[in-house]
Amino acid sequence: MLATNELTFQYDEGSIALKNIDIDLKKGSIIGIIGVNGSGKSTLFMNLIGVLRPTKGTVLYHNEPIKYDKKSLRELRKKVSIVFQDPDKQIFYSKVYEDAAFALRNLGFDEDEVKKRVNQSLESVGALEFSNKPVHFLSHGQKKRVAIAGVLALQSEVILFDEPTAGLDPKSVRAIEEIIKAISLEKAKVVISSHDMDLIYQLCDYIYVLDKGCIICEGSAEQIFTKDNIITKAGLTEPWLVKVHKNMGFPLFKSEEELYDYYNELKRH
Ligand SMILES: Nc1ncnc2c1ncn2[C@@H]1O[C@H](COP(=O)(O)OP(=O)(O)OP(=O)(O)O)[C@@H](O)[C@H]1O
Ligand SMILES: [Mg+2]
Repeated sequence: MLATNELTFQYDEGSIALKNIDIDLKKGSIIGIIGVNGSGKSTLFMNLIGVLRPTKGTVLYHNEPIKYDKKSLRELRKKVSIVFQDPDKQIFYSKVYEDAAFALRNLGFDEDEVKKRVNQSLESVGALEFSNKPVHFLSHGQKKRVAIAGVLALQSEVILFDEPTAGLDPKSVRAIEEIIKAISLEKAKVVISSHDMDLIYQLCDYIYVLDKGCIICEGSAEQIFTKDNIITKAGLTEPWLVKVHKNMGFPLFKSEEELYDYYNELKRH
């Protein structure tokens, strides 16, 4: 599995973007990386897929430091893929199908397999209905789905989602949540970076808190969000279910349905 060992990264002219980062993806099945703008989330993801190379420290894949020659990176990207924050960075082709097929063709899969996987993944993200449209006519949310479909078709071991719900309407946010849950059930490891605390709280089972390039805390969602000061220190807000717990004396629920069931049960007595 993917891990880092004292990873430090400095952009050429900038200050240090990541300092001594130790993360290990075997700690959870859906991992959250949370932090405010500029805390280093995207930089960390770029290091994890080998696009950026640590200034100090290492990225480990199955306990071996990753290598940066072309062939090794190509192998790594079959196993570890990323859905970028901005879908325009991910989409290269003007047709939806062609775009979702791009990475598979690039990796040398035969056309039958490409067709099978691409149709399956376009369907699973609800993108079949606009698969004949030119990409430049699609909305941001539709492009995001196409980008996800292209990544799903790779069937990799680890999928990194950088801000998967940024700029999406509530219905699309829920759709992305469902897609992520389904991916995780199919045994791929998912890592999500976000400052949407409700999303992270409900989806993730292990969380790292990034603050100015450092990990200031890690643990289960319950541990992270009930610890005083950590979330405010990192400049973030508490998920609404945590606020209900802290301010109304209710137990800490993981989903709104659990809260409603509890409340309805209370009313009955
Ligand atoms: N190409 C670059 N060159 C120099 N500095 C950069 C570059 N990209 C990012 N940085 C700096 O590195 C730090 C971390 O940025 P990064 O994009 O990783 O943060 P982030 O947590 O993903 O933020 P956001 O929530 O806005 O996406 C910031 O201080 C940023 O200014
Ligand atoms: Mg970012």
